[in-house]
Amino acid sequence: MRTDVAQIVRLEDYRPSDFLIDKVELDFRLHPTATKVTATLSVRPNPSGRSDVPLVLDGDEVNLKAIALDDRTLEAGEFEANPESLTISQPPQHSFRLTIETEINPTANTKLMGLYRSSGNYCTQCEAEGFRRITYFLDRPDVLAVYTTRIEAEYEEAPVLLGNGNPVESGFVEGTGRHYAVWHDPFPKPSYLFALVGGRLGRVSKTFTTMSGREVDIAVYVEPGKEDRAGYALDALERSMIWDEQVFGREYDLDVFSIVAVSDFNMGAMENKGLNIFNDKYVLASPETATDSDYANIEAIIAHEYFHNWSGNRVTCRDWFQLCLKEGLTVFRDQEFSSDERSRPVHRIAEVKALRSRQFLEDSSPLAHPVRPIQYREINNFYTATVYEKGAEIVRMLKTIIGDEDFRRGMDLYYDRCDGRAATVEDFLKAFADVTGRDLSHFARWYAQSGTPRVSVHGHHDEAAKMYRLDLRQQTPPTPGQPTKEPLVVPIALGLVTQDGQPMDAHCERVNSRGVFVLDKTEDSITFTGVASRPVPSVFRGFSAPVKVSLDLSNDELLVLLRHDTDAFNRWQAAQTVAMRLLVSLSTGTPVSDEEMASLSSALCAFIETDALRDPAFAALALTLPSEADVAQEIGKEVDPDAIHRARKAMRRHLGNACREQLLDFHRSLAQTESYSPDAASAGRRALRNAALDLLAAADLRTGEQLASTQFETASNMTDRLASLSVLMTIPGMVRENAIAAFEERYRSEPLVIDKWFTLQAAIPEDTTLERVKRLMEHPAFSINNPNRVRSLIGNFAMLNQVQFNRADGAGYAFVASIVLRADELNPQLASRLLTAFSTWRMMEPTRRSHARRALQSIAQKPNLSRDVGDIVNRSLE
Ligand code: PHE
Ligand code: ZN
Repeated sequence: MRTDVAQIVRLEDYRPSDFLIDKVELDFRLHPTATKVTATLSVRPNPSGRSDVPLVLDGDEVNLKAIALDDRTLEAGEFEANPESLTISQPPQHSFRLTIETEINPTANTKLMGLYRSSGNYCTQCEAEGFRRITYFLDRPDVLAVYTTRIEAEYEEAPVLLGNGNPVESGFVEGTGRHYAVWHDPFPKPSYLFALVGGRLGRVSKTFTTMSGREVDIAVYVEPGKEDRAGYALDALERSMIWDEQVFGREYDLDVFSIVAVSDFNMGAMENKGLNIFNDKYVLASPETATDSDYANIEAIIAHEYFHNWSGNRVTCRDWFQLCLKEGLTVFRDQEFSSDERSRPVHRIAEVKALRSRQFLEDSSPLAHPVRPIQYREINNFYTATVYEKGAEIVRMLKTIIGDEDFRRGMDLYYDRCDGRAATVEDFLKAFADVTGRDLSHFARWYAQSGTPRVSVHGHHDEAAKMYRLDLRQQTPPTPGQPTKEPLVVPIALGLVTQDGQPMDAHCERVNSRGVFVLDKTEDSITFTGVASRPVPSVFRGFSAPVKVSLDLSNDELLVLLRHDTDAFNRWQAAQTVAMRLLVSLSTGTPVSDEEMASLSSALCAFIETDALRDPAFAALALTLPSEADVAQEIGKEVDPDAIHRARKAMRRHLGNACREQLLDFHRSLAQTESYSPDAASAGRRALRNAALDLLAAADLRTGEQLASTQFETASNMTDRLASLSVLMTIPGMVRENAIAAFEERYRSEPLVIDKWFTLQAAIPEDTTLERVKRLMEHPAFSINNPNRVRSLIGNFAMLNQVQFNRADGAGYAFVASIVLRADELNPQLASRLLTAFSTWRMMEPTRRSHARRALQSIAQKPNLSRDVGDIVNRSLE
């Protein structure tokens, strides 16, 4: 029996709920294996729904104990209940109260959805459809209710009791060891934003005064003893609150705001109203245990969840097809925040790297889907790079097209109109259409059409007429379910540069005052006047649209941009484009001349010599070649991962040799002298130093081993220690194995650090790695139940280790498939995410492709697959 024939949910079938729930009163008696929940729901028929229809509440593995309607216990026959739903066939035609008693075993809840336990603490996760695992409910985002939650627990077991909203009452239950707390959230919210926490937790907190002078208690709760690692998160929260006031005029609205770190969590974090729950990986940080990128991620995710208070909570989504309405917008907001707090160009490059490696990949895979999907079998599978990252790019393009001021006016109008409501993408766009008077219906196609457009750019110079013409053409390849594509509205920020790198003062009427041309047809041409000599065009500055670009520029012309363009993103892009061309040639057996290699390396060496210390973080990015996965994606078919690995290694060696003196100098001079600070400037210096180390080791193993092992032993922070260990990983031998052992010894009791250790070993590009990974699964710190452990060891083996996951003998695929099946019995969401590593299988060469297909088929044939895994495996094979 196959379980993957789950019902398809379609956007076109949306209709308002027939009933509304205005008020929810919840009473929890927490118990490790038998938590009792009493839910009292104030229900009424929805005036815009159908009348005379049964009331059907959602459930998921619900264990019903009792049910009453307006205080009268319902008899069998008056309702129908099974673990998946509760039906009252003849509910009253007016308002009524439904009281439902259920019992939950939070300890047995390995799916980490609904109420579960993590390190002995109680917590909940309700997005998207987890609330129905707590009680029967209209578990859909357009049913908004005011919640009051009473939580009672054994004091010794759970001295801290947290709920949504504001605390209203607490005390001891006389004559018992129990206590309780009552929380009230005055803001109507959908059930997916419900949360509670109960447990033993340490706390750091402060008072935040909002722009209108209200005082808010802001707090971060962590495992007792780890309070000293919560300070950075608290600081990031405060900075986020200030930023949203200053940049979007949005103020916090409750008396308390709490963040709780838990160690078992399926995702990054969750924006529950007033009570954000986080994967502890995105809260806990100390210089000894967290890297610079951990700090940056913590800052971004704290901001992201906080920003949801407006973009997601005050204005929520009508249905799950509108997920990008909150996620795309909130990612855009957190990216803007990080750009303001750090370096904008450096952050933009990081965003684009992530977009290309995750979203472009998804968009070219069997799992491609629109930013607003029109159907799903399992909504959990749509928390994707497309919905999040491409969704953010759409918001950014809108801002690029209409300008900063109109963008802010549109946002204000959107919040004004939709506050307290469940909105749609149409509501969002209408706010901008109304403030600008523009027709955004063509722009809206970005939400509906999947696939990454390719834009080709050809330049023609007419010396006599001093004219320069750019011919632009867009085309989007077919994706599953969308064989033909329409042209999109593509904002192109651009400028012209002379062959020796000076900005040109050329004129083109169709380029607006902000330097943006909007391509909205399949083909168009723009002409610049006053162009005396053949220019180098700099197009898609700042990555102004999520497209792939083909340019008719020579490598030498691109390298002019590296040195001289006024747009930092395109300086970086120019070098990446040249490097990518060379890597593709090297990987596919196309000869590359020494001159071609030298032109890139000498341009990069010259660049770092003059510019690196002005912006070390940028220089580190410029020195980092496209990843093996990026090259594979660029090649796109008949991929041989071993050839790509060899090509990239050869190029790193070449670069390391060519810039050796300069790199040695960076490695020496940028050594840490002052004490660790996670700020962007200090992190940038570490990034450059470690990029230098990496290239030096690629050029010469012995030098690399020596420098890296010294750095490993003397490092004063995790960034430098991990970077050196990562370099040692590329050098087989006893030095490496001793370093691996020393690291384990030192961080044995730090699960989040052991995760890094798992990841580095899983990424070793050697044939023995698979055995190593299997061995590490027996390590006492590993647990198949913990998503962080599984992702660090198995997920990163599949995602980072191109040559070993894609082994020619198929052993990598078979191994990951077996883990997917094991994980699926415990935690379907974790399993299906792991499975998405197979999304590249169709672009492999035939031998690998057939091994991958067989591994996928072995999963598809397994009886009783979860809906999550069934959906992904079937789409992958389609
Ligand atoms: N909504 C969460 C976020 O901000 C993600 C999430 C989805 C978390 C589903 C848990 C479950 O992005
Ligand atoms: Zn989010």
